[in-house]
Amino acid sequence: MVLELTEDLKTGVEEMDKDHQMLVDYLNEVYTLLKEGKKEQAIRIFKEELLHYVNWHLTREEKFMEAIGYPEFERHKKAHDMFKKVILDLLPKVGSGDVEAFRESLALSWGWLAGHIGKVDKKYGEYAREKGLI
Ligand SMILES: [Fe+2]
Ligand SMILES: [Fe+2]
Repeated sequence: MVLELTEDLKTGVEEMDKDHQMLVDYLNEVYTLLKEGKKEQAIRIFKEELLHYVNWHLTREEKFMEAIGYPEFERHKKAHDMFKKVILDLLPKVGSGDVEAFRESLALSWGWLAGHIGKVDKKYGEYAREKGLI
């Protein structure tokens, strides 16, 4: 399975789209490692790099929304906090060594991310466009 940041998932905010592309790249990398049987490496990348990048991106996105005076900031931040919890809850599954459980965790992470980017993140893009900020 190869994940893709399709056009309908672009916010129009260059930096954020780049971050989202990085998230997709990380997930694809983990999928590939699993397919190649490199489970330990896949676990390490998920737990260390991907998780770190998710947190980094969410913070950066929150700063961006604040900087442009985005009115839905609070609600958006709550959604981020929920996702951080979801992804932390997946860690035992990921680290268990059960490849099927790991794949499910990846699918769930991507499902959440794609849904969030397509429905929630895109709205700050619309706002920024309306305000002539991008
Ligand atoms: Fe977001
Ligand atoms: Fe985002």
